Amino acid sequence: MFKKTSTAAAVAAATSLLLITGGCSATNAGKTEAAKPAPAAAAPAAAAAAPKAKSVDYTAMSPKALAEYLIFESGSYELDQPTQEGTTGRARLTQDEIQKACSLMKGEEVSDKAREKVMALAAASIKYPEGGIKLGDWKKGRELAWSGFGYRTAHNPDDHSSREAGGNCYNCHQLATDRTGGDIGPSLTGYGKNRGSSPDMLKYTYEVIYNPHVYFACTNMPRMGATGVLNQQQIADIMAYLFDPASPVNK
Ligand code: HEC
Repeated sequence: MFKKTSTAAAVAAATSLLLITGGCSATNAGKTEAAKPAPAAAAPAAAAAAPKAKSVDYTAMSPKALAEYLIFESGSYELDQPTQEGTTGRARLTQDEIQKACSLMKGEEVSDKAREKVMALAAASIKYPEGGIKLGDWKKGRELAWSGFGYRTAHNPDDHSSREAGGNCYNCHQLATDRTGGDIGPSLTGYGKNRGSSPDMLKYTYEVIYNPHVYFACTNMPRMGATGVLNQQQIADIMAYLFDPASPVNK
């Protein structure tokens, strides 16, 4: 019932948009070339949207398809704008398989089948270092773990050539007792001291940083390795920060 009502409302909203656009061109149609008002800044956009709008049957769309259409194709966002990773706004907004499986309507839950699919996709995305998983430099790792620089939106482009992108760990995790971190994720203070650094523990940690969906399907934690924000050396450095007995994490 609720779904039906919201579909009707969305279609009504979309239709009224159409009527407005249609109304404008009807007014202009009766006028001579000379009588036409000088085009306002918004006019070319409206004109470009009009033929597109006509070719679409809103009533045949599911609420999700309609929402996607309005977000992506109605000209509200400049989809061709370049991004710092060398793609476009459209590529950034297009969901990959894991994001699709994890994006649900309010009140819906991830099914066991979707969870399994997400975990399998995550497992397939992980690339391991050729010489095995080793710890890097904890001091470099500390800089990376406490940096949220890089790939930001709604900013001037971040210059990755002058400063490397960080892992942003501190925004969600308490890491060490010398600084205050976030609490969206569990505290990682004392990580190496409490868990030891067996090969299994190193593998688990590498995988969580590379693509956490392999253990926590549909988690909020970003896929730092799989999306290329952190490379293998940077992950090794952050791991050293978590495991090294000399690191403030384990003091
Ligand atoms: C946007 C928030 C967020 C960011 C950023 C983030 N994490 Fe997480 N992390 C989480 C959450 C939430 C969990 C718990 C998993 C779950 O239940 O979804 C987690 C789990 C973990 C775990 C497993 C904890 C355990 O008890 O075994 C590790 C290790 C970890 N994160 C390390 C990192 C590192 C290192 C970084 C930076 C490269 C990082 N995280 C960045 C949110 C985040």
